[in-house]
Amino acid sequence: MDFSMIFVVSNILLLLSSSAFAKTVVSPPSPSPTPTPAPAPAPDFVNLTDLLSVAGPFHTFLQYLESTKVLDTFQNQANNTEEGITIFVPKDSAFSALKKPSLSKLKDDQIKQVILFHALPHFYSLAEFKNLSQTSSTPTFAGGDYTLNFTDDSGTVHISSGWSITKVTSAVHATDPVAIYQVDKVLLPEAIFGTDIPPAPAPAPTPEIAPAADSPTQQSAESKSTSPSSSPDGSSSYKIISYGIWANIVLATFGVLMVL
Ligand SMILES: *[C@@H]1O[C@H](CO)[C@@H](O)[C@H](O)[C@H]1NC(C)=O
Ligand SMILES: *[C@@H]1O[C@H](CO)[C@@H](O)[C@H](O)[C@H]1NC(C)=O
Ligand SMILES: *[C@@H]1O[C@H](CO)[C@@H](O)[C@H](O)[C@H]1NC(C)=O
Ligand SMILES: *[C@@H]1O[C@H](CO)[C@@H](O)[C@H](O)[C@H]1NC(C)=O
Repeated sequence: MDFSMIFVVSNILLLLSSSAFAKTVVSPPSPSPTPTPAPAPAPDFVNLTDLLSVAGPFHTFLQYLESTKVLDTFQNQANNTEEGITIFVPKDSAFSALKKPSLSKLKDDQIKQVILFHALPHFYSLAEFKNLSQTSSTPTFAGGDYTLNFTDDSGTVHISSGWSITKVTSAVHATDPVAIYQVDKVLLPEAIFGTDIPPAPAPAPTPEIAPAADSPTQQSAESKSTSPSSSPDGSSSYKIISYGIWANIVLATFGVLMVL
């Protein structure tokens, strides 16, 4: 009797101690050798600098973002997961394709406006631009008159700034709350460039009602096809001419669409 009691009790003690031992044996390996499995939460924000410095190349845009301090504004919005942000980023080649005076003539606050003009204070997936194209003018970070128009051409998003027409060529990042789309051209706001159209023989700028939006593009296309003709290289002038033809086709198509 007594002996069996002792046997049972000792068995129970043995079980308890072995399970306690098992616990102490099992538990240590995880925290001690590798102390970094738990503290690996996915970054809760997108670092715009990091993103822009590896893609593109977008160095010129990034430099403008930094020199104007607009980077802080955009990063702050990117951190704001409620609304998010959509940024249109021209490649370095788009900046170098601009005629020199275009940006260098501007004052600091105007350059800041141009950079602010490249973002919308909301995250838009590419699919959502179909909806945006229903609205006539979409406000940008630059506010006020600095609006963009979007048209969705069977999946290709075209952007009109009034002065330049371009399109989204690729999505660099499109995960809510941050969308970064590469665009073909620098977006030049009508509010700054509308009255600053290069040499072209612009006759008396009579404020016409309907075709106002078309005229600056027409002139820019013409000035592009005429001014660099001094280039001795035949192939580049051929390219420029074909660009002019292409621009005319686009304008003609645009005209037909407007009529319809
Ligand atoms: C983003 O990364 C850059 C360089 O990697 C760093 O200098 C900057 O502080 C980071 N920005 C934020 C908001 O953490
Ligand atoms: C964005 O969030 C990161 C991480 O919380 C923070 O380090 C950074 O300062 C924030 N930047 C801005 C401009 O709010
Ligand atoms: C577009 O708008 C319609 C109606 O307003 C909405 O139901 C639909 O979800 C929207 N699509 C996207 C991609 O936002
Ligand atoms: C956007 O569209 C509206 C209406 O169609 C037009 O009045 C405006 O000039 C356009 N703006 C730009 C920047 O293209």
